[in-house]
Amino acid sequence: MTNKYKINVNGQPHEIESDEDTPLLYILRNDLKLKGTKFGCGDGICGACTVIMDGLPIFSCDTPIWSADGKNIETIEGLSVNGIHPLQEEMIDEQAGQCGYCLSGITMRIKALLDKNPNQTVDEVAEQLDRNLCRCGSQSRILKAVENYIEKVS
Ligand code: FES
Ligand code: FES
Repeated sequence: MTNKYKINVNGQPHEIESDEDTPLLYILRNDLKLKGTKFGCGDGICGACTVIMDGLPIFSCDTPIWSADGKNIETIEGLSVNGIHPLQEEMIDEQAGQCGYCLSGITMRIKALLDKNPNQTVDEVAEQLDRNLCRCGSQSRILKAVENYIEKVS
């Protein structure tokens, strides 16, 4: 059934007319043209589509728009509204991505984790990244970037 939904994305309010079961990922990519959030498995397995919703990392591919109604969404584009985010700087310095396809989702999960508790160790962050897959095997460089970021902000 088609309905109207209000979501706030990267600080901007949007009213969306959509079928209630349309995944948030499709709304972000197709309606709002925010292509930084990636479609990987489309089935809640790989983490490529991770965004932050009301402070929590979620898979946008298995989040229907009805459940995002009235929520605050943060995507990878939101990190660089005021210049590049320091976490992204570290990712670039460490050349953390190979293909980079996983990196948007991984970056958003890390940001959500460290926003919630900035005093985590890199090992604690690594444990919570098991829901975000990287097929290129760049995890060690990604975690080095996280380590550098934690050192910088702590
Ligand atoms: S695309 Fe959403 S978890 Fe893989
Ligand atoms: S850098 Fe290619 S999937 Fe992670």
